[in-house]
Amino acid sequence: MFFNKTKPIVGRCETDMTTRLRLKYEPFYHVIESASGVNVTVAGRPMVLMSSNEYLGLSRHPKVVEAAKQALDQWGASACGSRLANGSRAYHIELEEALAAFLGKEACHVTAAGYLACTCSLSSLAQRGDAMIVDPSVHSSLWDGALLSGAKIERFAHNDMDSLAKLLGQLDAKQAKVIVVDGVYSMEGHLAPLPRLVELAGQHEAAVVVDEAHSIGILGRGGRGVCDHFGVTARVDMICGSFSKALAGTGGFVAASRAMIEYLRSNSRQIIFSAAISPAAAASARAALEIMQSEPERHDRLWANHRHLKTILQTSGLDFWDSPTPALPIVIGDKVKCYELWKSLWDQGFFTVMSLPPGVPPGKELLRCAVTALHTTDQLDRFGEALKAAMRQAGVRPKG
Ligand SMILES: Cc1ncc(COP(=O)(O)O)c(C=O)c1O
Repeated sequence: MFFNKTKPIVGRCETDMTTRLRLKYEPFYHVIESASGVNVTVAGRPMVLMSSNEYLGLSRHPKVVEAAKQALDQWGASACGSRLANGSRAYHIELEEALAAFLGKEACHVTAAGYLACTCSLSSLAQRGDAMIVDPSVHSSLWDGALLSGAKIERFAHNDMDSLAKLLGQLDAKQAKVIVVDGVYSMEGHLAPLPRLVELAGQHEAAVVVDEAHSIGILGRGGRGVCDHFGVTARVDMICGSFSKALAGTGGFVAASRAMIEYLRSNSRQIIFSAAISPAAAASARAALEIMQSEPERHDRLWANHRHLKTILQTSGLDFWDSPTPALPIVIGDKVKCYELWKSLWDQGFFTVMSLPPGVPPGKELLRCAVTALHTTDQLDRFGEALKAAMRQAGVRPKG
């Protein structure tokens, strides 16, 4: 009898409304049975992936796959522990040196996930008593790092440099400060206005951390990212990011001065207490980094596709939040219509993902789409037709 009582925590999981709704309507966690680039099969049905971050289409590049295979043969599946405990391997150092040189920073540390890299960039950088000045739209990994640091969190309005200037002016001049932004915001697709931001940071002696997860491979010379795009790399103190987008792998990095990277290695719990990136993941990221630079036609194709999809969204009267990057949202601003649009596209063979509050601000419920170098013009045109039908079905009216 006593043993049959549901424990409160277990009961909470069993009755959670978000989970119940998710399982009822099944908008997420679909099982993909096979995948080749953006062509996937779900429940035996071919679909086109419109939410993939594989911007340059490198995950099946023969050189990437071969590099991963060779690393498996040479080093095995895992380093089976953290680098503090088990040592760094030659492939870690090679990848870090290549990335640091590419990004224009002195040093770099690579981690098993982009999430870890972004969290570790902040969690030990600031402390209680410091100010962590955050754009509210930054990725969760940065939010977690900011919260873990214990610093006082101060928010400025998304991408609004006047709001940042006002906030900086109100803070204690003696307080140590860090400003945290995404180079490209993953949901909105917006670019951080870095030239003004580094100016303000300089005036207030605030360190600057930029997450380049969605800008490496996309912007800047040879895909060096947003800091390079704006020519402000030297004025940004720390760059973090992920291999899981344009670099089509798994893992992440943080790049900065040698002193800052060594500081993270001695103080960041995400680095000290987490296993190192696997040999195959490090090798594939290293190969992708080279291909990204040696095959610029992928970049050209990505931007041509971006222009094409943007035109389709514009002519359909859809709000894409003025995104200037391949992360293209379709803002619906209504949870039910957003779901209905998603469902209609799903039924027509297009795989998109919904983003609802708290992932986006209330009123900005959206379908997150991303265009890649892999999409064909025909696929994008068919997506445009499917969108028109989905809008009619969901009652989404074109913008005037
Ligand atoms: C802006 C941003 N930062 C960090 C991450 C985390 O990267 P990863 O998926 O490699 O853990 C993501 C991934 O969604 C992201 O979009």
